[in-house]
Amino acid sequence: MMTNLKSLQKKWPIWDDYGDYMEGGHVSVLVKEVLNFLKCESSKVYVDCTIGDGGHSYAILKKSTPNGLVIGIDQDMEAIEYAKKRLSCLKERIVFIHDNFCNIKKILKRINILKVDGILFDLGVSSRQLDSTERGFSFSHDAPLDMRMDRSKGISAADLVNELPFEDLYIIFKRYGEEKWSYRIAKAIVREREVHPIRSTSQLADIVTSTIPISYRSRRIHPATKTFQALRIAVNKELTALEEALRDAIDLLNQGSRICVISFHSLEDRIVKDMFRVMERGCSCPSEIPICMCRGERKVRVLTKGPVIPSKEEISINPRSRSAKLRVAERL
Ligand SMILES: C[S@@+](CC[C@H](N)C(=O)[O-])C[C@H]1O[C@@H](n2cnc3c(N)ncnc32)[C@H](O)[C@@H]1O
Repeated sequence: MMTNLKSLQKKWPIWDDYGDYMEGGHVSVLVKEVLNFLKCESSKVYVDCTIGDGGHSYAILKKSTPNGLVIGIDQDMEAIEYAKKRLSCLKERIVFIHDNFCNIKKILKRINILKVDGILFDLGVSSRQLDSTERGFSFSHDAPLDMRMDRSKGISAADLVNELPFEDLYIIFKRYGEEKWSYRIAKAIVREREVHPIRSTSQLADIVTSTIPISYRSRRIHPATKTFQALRIAVNKELTALEEALRDAIDLLNQGSRICVISFHSLEDRIVKDMFRVMERGCSCPSEIPICMCRGERKVRVLTKGPVIPSKEEISINPRSRSAKLRVAERL
């Protein structure tokens, strides 16, 4: 990891000042690409909706020296605390907000900001969250089955697997995991929880693994990958949060400013692609429908006809970047 980081620092001078970069931390993806699209300048205001370990925010602050401002949002208090420490040398130019990005409109209103000059979403979980031995996001460590990004509220993955009816579990695995064996997995969970509650990641991973026929198990991907992804999306209501946030975020951009969204699976990417497309074409619903506020207005120009993906070089340095897709739109 440290060797990889050294080569990363050599290639991207923007990382030089990291100094304190810790083993097991999050390596930000598509940093150069995001900076190019955001056109960072001094005295402009940017929103990092997913501050995580603060890597992108750091890069934006550096690029917008000396007076660029970043509003850094994360629903994970631990991420906020970590980013605060890490970016302490730039603290005059960054405002940290512990909240869900679906509240972006309210958040900016609270701090008296009406419009901003760029918005970034880097979706999903950070490596810090994934690698944590307590958070339960991954089957790689035995941990309580939690998966909440915001541990101050909401219901855990354990609550879902122990309490939801079979049909709901089946739909979650099918819809959010696109898991071929959803029916079997949901059945196995319901059977198992009648004997003892499912409380840990390894318990769940074992149930899923034993349910999928050996001949269908991939050698490259753990059999429980899709089930874990599905539960995480359900626990954190990730897709609805994204839809709401995108709609509001576009309205908060100054004319000519850009929104960058990095997604890591096809469900997120589809939402981003579709939302940008609708906003580019202008909604086609009749303007007399009172619920539709857009009146056919075209709001953005999409700058990425296909998604921007990491280079082979970036993937070799940071294999977790391999599924990243960046889409960008500019406010008209
Ligand atoms: C991939 S990480 C971001 C990494 C960051 N860009 C960096 O360079 O260090 C995603 C972060 O977004 C946060 N997050 C995900 N969904 C969120 C939401 N709906 N509201 C606020 N934060 C969210 C997660 O808690 C996590 O810290």
